[in-house]
Amino acid sequence: MNSKQDSDKPEIILTGDRATGPLHLGHYVGSLKQRVALQAIHEQTILVADMQGLTDNAHNPKKVSSNILNVVADYLAVGINPSITTICLQSKLPALAELTMYYSNLVSISRLERNPTVKSEIQHKGFERSIPAGFLTYPISQAADITGFSATLVPVGDDQLPMLEQTNEIVRKVNSLAGRIVLNECRPLLSNASRLPSTDGKNKMSKSIGNAINLGATEKEISAAVKSMYTDPNHLRVEEPGNVEGNIVFTYLDAFHPDENYISQLKEHYQRGGLGDGTTKKILEECLQEMLRPIRVRRSEFLSDKAQLIDILIKGSQVSRDKTEKVLFDVKDIFGLNLF
Ligand code: TRP
Repeated sequence: MNSKQDSDKPEIILTGDRATGPLHLGHYVGSLKQRVALQAIHEQTILVADMQGLTDNAHNPKKVSSNILNVVADYLAVGINPSITTICLQSKLPALAELTMYYSNLVSISRLERNPTVKSEIQHKGFERSIPAGFLTYPISQAADITGFSATLVPVGDDQLPMLEQTNEIVRKVNSLAGRIVLNECRPLLSNASRLPSTDGKNKMSKSIGNAINLGATEKEISAAVKSMYTDPNHLRVEEPGNVEGNIVFTYLDAFHPDENYISQLKEHYQRGGLGDGTTKKILEECLQEMLRPIRVRRSEFLSDKAQLIDILIKGSQVSRDKTEKVLFDVKDIFGLNLF
């Protein structure tokens, strides 16, 4: 495909987040910043994936329900503009659940079990022999999300590439059943920011481990998180040379500090010796405090008016219902199910 042509043509963009916790700095560098830029150029929808969130939290549904509005407030606080980006709630779009049912007939269990992301999540969550059917099949539901909006471009992290691959397999099967192109394949848009490591440098960012900095983190929380950050364990004295590779403080400085030259000088100094972790952490803390302060203020303003957040979801879901129902009609047609 001609990439010039691609970049000239507005894309239909769909992204989504499981509503299982407030969003953090990893979401910010990996995808939120990109969405803020994309909304000015393309037709963008963001799906708050509450149903997908339940696929591994059905016994603790509050984890999902109590985070729906938090996630919407996070979007608005970083600059997602609901008058140009549609923000909608997955559980309010029944056409997506119906599409999932039809697509389920086109995907084998063994294909679902081969999905590498699902495979590692199953191991991680210790599901082993009692995998919820909804969890194993969530890639089908994600295919319904993507095709339900006729998305052409899906900005994702690399862990989501297997979902897009499965989506396109379903698209090809549907089209081949129909004998014509009913659904379009989608393309991933990978963020060029590399994945932000957790503050402990070891695990995936997780609220329960407490190794992520949320967008709504208080000043104290930011300070504590930076102070506990993993640095170079062999850098015991200020005078000694330190390692910047794998030193999370420098990884975060690279990701968030606006002055690249200053950071490269700082790295040289650290590698030469004579620069302590207390100082590098102080520089990082100032930078994060400055960046997160306005986001935190806006976030709490938005959260103080829940009716407004709900109204945004109602309007976005209404627009989305119309779009997804059209696609459902086309898919049902293939199966001869539009008798009345
Ligand atoms: N699986 C995605 C995640 O965990 C969330 C998601 C649900 C999604 N539906 C989507 C992402 C549709 C892109 C498109 O982050």
